[in-house]
Amino acid sequence: MSPNREFWTSSKGFVLAMAGSAIGLGNIWRFSYIMGKYGGAAFILVYLAAIFLIGLPIMLCELSLGRASGKGPLEAMTELAPRRTTLSFLTAVALILGAAAFVFKGMYFHAGVAGFFALGALLFGWGFLGFTVTFLTPLMIAVFYSVVGGWIIIYTIVSPLGKIFRDPAASAELLGNIVTASGGKYWVTVAAASAFFLATALIVMAGVQKGIERFSKIFMPLIFILIIVIIVRVLTLPNAKEGLRFLFLPDFSKMTAEGVMAALGQAFFTLSLGSGVGIAYGSYLGRSSSLPKTAFTIVLLDTIASILAGLAIFPLLFSTGLSPEEGTSLVFKVLPIAFGKLPLSALWGTLFFFTLLLAALTSSISMLEGAVQGLMQKLYLPRGKAVLLLIIVLGPLVPLTAVSSANFANVPKLGQFFTETLKLRSESFFAILDNTTCLWLMPLAGLMTLLFVSYVWGNKKALEEMNCFNAFDWLFSKIWLFVVRFVSPVLVILAFLKGLGIFF
Ligand code: PHE
Repeated sequence: MSPNREFWTSSKGFVLAMAGSAIGLGNIWRFSYIMGKYGGAAFILVYLAAIFLIGLPIMLCELSLGRASGKGPLEAMTELAPRRTTLSFLTAVALILGAAAFVFKGMYFHAGVAGFFALGALLFGWGFLGFTVTFLTPLMIAVFYSVVGGWIIIYTIVSPLGKIFRDPAASAELLGNIVTASGGKYWVTVAAASAFFLATALIVMAGVQKGIERFSKIFMPLIFILIIVIIVRVLTLPNAKEGLRFLFLPDFSKMTAEGVMAALGQAFFTLSLGSGVGIAYGSYLGRSSSLPKTAFTIVLLDTIASILAGLAIFPLLFSTGLSPEEGTSLVFKVLPIAFGKLPLSALWGTLFFFTLLLAALTSSISMLEGAVQGLMQKLYLPRGKAVLLLIIVLGPLVPLTAVSSANFANVPKLGQFFTETLKLRSESFFAILDNTTCLWLMPLAGLMTLLFVSYVWGNKKALEEMNCFNAFDWLFSKIWLFVVRFVSPVLVILAFLKGLGIFF
């Protein structure tokens, strides 16, 4: 490990920073809209299974890879094993078969992507997985995340006035103008998304300890408190029971193949997996902390945050007669109504959106961190210049995604290109980024990480890296060993096959 790498000031600081990455818009905005779309309780069950049987084991793999290599996601794998192995070759073969299946189904865009990955795996072996989790996936996420982050900025700014909480028409107008961009005021959306992206970049420029850790430490607890305040209020509303039923009584008839994939994708997204974060942050972690306890704490905090968000949002949603299938604007429809029902609504609302903004920032900075680390290592750039490069390359994509967030109607030419030329069914550039990363790139990278740790690097080394201190760690690591080898990879593969309609 190079001597000048920064370290987390403490193990607690690390947990908070990882939790800061995990807890964000994924828990409140994305979890609610995806769960609403795929039917509540049944979705939650599949999601929880995915979190504990796939997510947690993968997080442990990522943290140990990061700490063992002492390098960021770009080079962690190639540092610990030969660049090309039998398994990387077999992966390329599987991807070529996948590409052929897509061609057969007339899904040319998917075929192209699978082909691209096959070529990458053939030429660069495990280095290609490093490239994907360092640059491709997290940066694509950073772009669409900035758009939602921008919406949160706008809500934070207008909240102190309190109008959107008192007057449903004002809330609907704001929503129309910025989230669904139906009012034609794109410039507000574009400016806000760009501001969020730039704020993220500036914090990353400030460096690991100063920038990230300080932020996380102060604000993470507040978001929990605020959500609990909303829950207490909304549970007493008429018809709140309907929402609880939706959250806790499963209706498996709604659990389609798409729903299973969506639950898996959400598990990856919410835990920031398959996107280099665990490896990047793990590489800054000192030798003394035990990984099982750390990973378990992070996953638990994140899951509690999501379930609490569900409890805050769905009872109210049903009590106001809104549909759970509102899509990306779901929380923006529900939350202003929730605050409207509290005394001092402007105060609570402002506090909430401000905290959510900070939670979103502690997530978005983690998306850039691995890429910045990679650029610093490969191009010998100082941190500031590496961040600047990211701003120049990614910056233009942010406004583009912001204007296409509602639908392609705002950018018809682009829409035509995606829907007619590439035959993609997604309704917007925003949705394409969201779907490609959550449904495909993250689970695939997660699967490859599992296989890498089990069959290339070796579980024994991963176990040594975990530092098991007590009986809990020990038991946990034994279970992990079994799950990571036999359970998680099989489940991810089954979910893929189900999603592709190839199997059951
Ligand atoms: N986990 C973050 C959230 O829930 C999003 C994220 C995804 C962050 C991938 C980093 C990498 O908001």
